[in-house]
Amino acid sequence: MDFDSVRNDFPTMRADPGVYLDSSCQSLRPDSVIDAVTGYYRDFPVCGGRSVHHLANEVSIRVDETREKLASFFGADSANSFVFTKNTTEAINTVAFGFGLKKGDTVVTTDSEHNSNYVPWLTLRDSVGIGMRHSESGKDGVFDIESFKSQMDRSVKLVSVSQCNNVTGCTVPVKAVAEIAYDYGAMIMVDGSQAAPHMKVDMKDSDVDFYAMSIHKMLGPSGMGVLYGKEDALENIRPRLYGGGMVGLVTYDDVDFAPIPDRFEAGLQDYAGIIGTKAALEYLENVGMENIMKHDAELLSYMFELTKDIKGMHIVGPEDPSKRCSIMSFNIDGLGAHDVAMMLDSIDGIMVRSGMHCAHPFFVSRKTEGSVRASVYLYNNRKDIERFASALGKVAEQFGE
Ligand SMILES: Cc1ncc(COP(=O)(O)O)c(C=O)c1O
Repeated sequence: MDFDSVRNDFPTMRADPGVYLDSSCQSLRPDSVIDAVTGYYRDFPVCGGRSVHHLANEVSIRVDETREKLASFFGADSANSFVFTKNTTEAINTVAFGFGLKKGDTVVTTDSEHNSNYVPWLTLRDSVGIGMRHSESGKDGVFDIESFKSQMDRSVKLVSVSQCNNVTGCTVPVKAVAEIAYDYGAMIMVDGSQAAPHMKVDMKDSDVDFYAMSIHKMLGPSGMGVLYGKEDALENIRPRLYGGGMVGLVTYDDVDFAPIPDRFEAGLQDYAGIIGTKAALEYLENVGMENIMKHDAELLSYMFELTKDIKGMHIVGPEDPSKRCSIMSFNIDGLGAHDVAMMLDSIDGIMVRSGMHCAHPFFVSRKTEGSVRASVYLYNNRKDIERFASALGKVAEQFGE
């Protein structure tokens, strides 16, 4: 695969504003996605699924095509398993508040989840009285399946874990975790926001009940996410939003809800975002998820190699890049994470993320204030890594302890 030509497909890269190493937050977009979004606004900027005129039909067809693409891309049996959401957060909330959890039911997570996979459960703990437990990570933040098993019993109704951690980059073997959850009669939801952009995800193979993802992290438009659910699992979830588009017939006395997935998509949708989603999936498919995985892994290991002797540098998570999915988190002795990030930007336009990365419990429990996070994706190249390492070396030498 020619990754130089991939890079050239991204207008932000062509404009050369610096070194973008913040793809775990949001990815850049290739021309084809931007064209698909602007094509909607230019050529058929109308509502789908309601009117029967030809422009509306065009939108309806394209919405259906995106769902079909999601099903083929993620190896799912049915396009009806895919619900459009704003992001992973909305997808997780849809399941959390629609699942019907009751007092005494337990939800199990890990100790390193994003706030999006804690706050809904904390809220349900306080409002409904559910129990919350989490597995403890082993050394360096690596998932510990024995610790996970020790949290399981028959009160557990839902396991909710992220497949790829957004701080340490560590992955969770979701298929094995799903098997354990099923042994206890529980269901499983996976937060795939950091995994789906970087690895091949196959819903049939992993056999999870729900999978949440952010399309804006996988080359798609801002404000687009997807909730996958097995059809029978989605059938048992109560919708979160009520109104037009999610119903069959409504009378003054009664409402007949639409079948899945429409039941979860009340009101007019983000049609440009949905159409752009298909373009993003097509782009990823053309490059190939295996090629992307290999490219990301090579760049990450180059990043570890070039930075290993930097003064006062401490890696957060495993020091072995092969255990991490596209993410390096670190601190420099004597410097705050935001200071490092701002200096990197001012020295050579290096864009990284700093702070707690919405993983507050992870940092609070370790009594640290956060980290700097550099993340790579398919449009990055070795030169980006060299510029990052060189700027970071200067920061550490001149300002570190
Ligand atoms: C692991 C993880 N889960 C959930 C989220 C939330 O994603 P979004 O803001 O798109 O809802 C993120 C975002 O960075 C994340 O990294």
